[in-house]
Amino acid sequence: MVTRTLLLLPGDGIGPEAMAEVRKLIAVLNDTQSAGFTVQEGLVGGAAYDAHGQAISDEDMEKALAADAVLFGAVGGPKWDGVAYEVRPEAGLLRLRKEMELFANLRPAICYPALAASSSLKQEVVEGLDILIVRELTGGVYFGEPKEIIDLGNGQKRGIDTQVYDTFEIERISGVAFELARTRANKVCSMEKHNVMKSGVLWKEVVAATHKANYADVELTHMLADAGGMQLVRWPKQFDVIVTDNLFGDMLSDVAAMLTGSLGMLPSASLGAPDPMSGARKALYEPVHGSAPDIAGKGLANPIAMIASFAMCLRYSFNMVAEADRLEAAIAGVLDDGMRTADIMSDGMTQLSTAEMGDAITAKYLTLS
Ligand code: NAI
Ligand code: MG
Repeated sequence: MVTRTLLLLPGDGIGPEAMAEVRKLIAVLNDTQSAGFTVQEGLVGGAAYDAHGQAISDEDMEKALAADAVLFGAVGGPKWDGVAYEVRPEAGLLRLRKEMELFANLRPAICYPALAASSSLKQEVVEGLDILIVRELTGGVYFGEPKEIIDLGNGQKRGIDTQVYDTFEIERISGVAFELARTRANKVCSMEKHNVMKSGVLWKEVVAATHKANYADVELTHMLADAGGMQLVRWPKQFDVIVTDNLFGDMLSDVAAMLTGSLGMLPSASLGAPDPMSGARKALYEPVHGSAPDIAGKGLANPIAMIASFAMCLRYSFNMVAEADRLEAAIAGVLDDGMRTADIMSDGMTQLSTAEMGDAITAKYLTLS
């Protein structure tokens, strides 16, 4: 039997509540399909800080590096506001991203039919939307040096951030985008600002060269990132996969996400490079939302973002495509049945708690299998 090691890092706030619903699905997959998941547990964020004074222990970091995939809940909250910068809850996530070298951040924007009418855009603009934003996560202006505030001595200061990309960084992120496109509608749109940025000139050049060398079967287009922002709200269905840098990706993925609904619905994946021997990628899956301290412990959290993150895990880490499709269909089906958590509640629908929503999706999954 195959064995698949999953490290669960629930974190703080609603993280553990949302993760509890994924545990139900892992149990169902093991029981009904002999999926062979071995679950390991770890602490991250405030939960880790409270236990041992660090945002993630070396031991749990080792587990993350050894696991086939990591499922991450959420971290942070006012309780740890006064905590030192290096051990604050968010530092746990940053350490995981850095040590696992998770350079590719995948943010899908999928419009569930049952929620199309509640989008801020017209129903026909978002209905059936299914796009994937691939954001470079470990380079660019958030990390480039110099990065500082200098005192000019004349009563003025200067804040400096540096946008830097090397060829290999653009090659590997565009490679991920092209490979994912092949499993979808086979189209990639690369977004940069080559009209005003040298890093943008290089970005466009390297994406085009990578395409020509290895992925000529995929349709490639280029768009200026600001125009891309406009097109995302004008006619998002023109896109399949969008590949872009860290800064533009941060903004464009948030814009795309909001086309489709609540923060409580949005999953993400972060992938590393394939192991040269096994081909396996390090990967971490997490909802886009934070720890939502305002609703934590009340059974109000929408677990769909966490469950949809697990569906991405099945798809991208374990190639369990049928199961991932079925789990996503179960989410859509429960929404079609009028089931809602408080954050997506509307007239005539049935309001469920976090656990009831998890149960409904689990039950629906079983009826579909
Ligand atoms: P947040 O995402 O935690 O919450 C924003 C709003 O959305 C809140 O009103 C919350 O109740 C609601 N919300 C979020 N997820 C929901 C869900 N699953 N179901 C229903 N409603 C949901 O962002 P906020 O309030 O800015 O940050 C709270 C804490 O989370 C902070 O400490 C922040 O640093 C941290 N954070 C952590 C992230 C992570 O772990 N990756 C990401 C973003 C924020
Ligand atoms: Mg952001």
